[in-house]
Amino acid sequence: MRVLSGIQPTGRFHWGNYFGAIKQYIELQYDNDGFYFIADLHALTTVRDPKLLRENVRDAALDLLALGLDPSRATLFVQSHVPEVSELYWLLMTGAPMGLLERCVAFKDKAARGIKADAGLFTYPVLMAADILAYDSQWVPVGEDQIQHIEVCRDLAGSFNHHYGETFVLPTARVLQETAKVPGTDGQKMSKSYDNTLALFEEPKDLRKKIMRISTDSRPMEDAKDPDNDHLYQLYSLFATDEQREEVRAMYLRGGFGYGEIKKRLADAADAFLNPFRMKRQELAADDRVVANALESGAKRAREVASDVLRRAQSACGLRS
Ligand code: TYM
Repeated sequence: MRVLSGIQPTGRFHWGNYFGAIKQYIELQYDNDGFYFIADLHALTTVRDPKLLRENVRDAALDLLALGLDPSRATLFVQSHVPEVSELYWLLMTGAPMGLLERCVAFKDKAARGIKADAGLFTYPVLMAADILAYDSQWVPVGEDQIQHIEVCRDLAGSFNHHYGETFVLPTARVLQETAKVPGTDGQKMSKSYDNTLALFEEPKDLRKKIMRISTDSRPMEDAKDPDNDHLYQLYSLFATDEQREEVRAMYLRGGFGYGEIKKRLADAADAFLNPFRMKRQELAADDRVVANALESGAKRAREVASDVLRRAQSACGLRS
């Protein structure tokens, strides 16, 4: 299968990014043809500081490598290093209905909060469609919040195919039920926009502090509690073994425990899980060539595939013979 996904370099990756998406990238790299990219063009809709953007892209690449993405198995690249995608974006724009884009959540949310959106944010799903279609992608591993964008991609590809003849492969979103929407420290979806994230490569001490501040309800200690509606339990489940999870589940159902105890268990489990990644990252960061080489060969391979698809689309719509 051709698997593709992208992630924005808008700050440090958080637990939602990892359990919703990155973990899938890594699992799928062994038996599939994986294409994974750092979406710097998308990040330009929010990061307008060039130095910061450069740093974020390098951090993102280091994080992905440290988390286990293997450039000898999967193609890792930066979105803007494949200019074919931006050309494809225009071809798709000419067939993108305004109404479809107006219904997209990222834009609708901003508009509802009275924030002025630019054309980049408005047409963001079309660029995302170009990202996916440029590589004949079949599976797109993502968290729940991206499903709508993949539907838009299917709509745009379907109508292009309908009008000009079979050109694009229609992709399918691959969402893992249990981790489709990882909660943040306040129980809403973990997201940088809600300021409720727990970063993967946070300093252990800071991470522990943030975990201790996770919001909880104020029910008496002795009451039994429902683990399935509790974000602290959901977060703990991400790291716990089956046995540990069952033990904590039983504590919830029985009552008579303090949330502080679960937070401590979560901090310990997260620390044990994340520590090997931290060490790996330090090792990789010591040699600048590791990231540079991976991204350079990734872009070369990605361009080979994308230029074929672009030519196919250009021929279909009459831009070339
Ligand atoms: P981004 O950068 O916001 O998020 C990267 C990935 O992390 C997932 N994710 C979550 N999953 C579960 N729970 C959460 N709390 C959580 N928060 C984030 C996202 O669903 C995503 O899979 N538009 C995309 C980037 C993109 C892309 C693409 C993705 C650009 N082009 C083409 C797939 C295919 C985005 O902003 O993801």
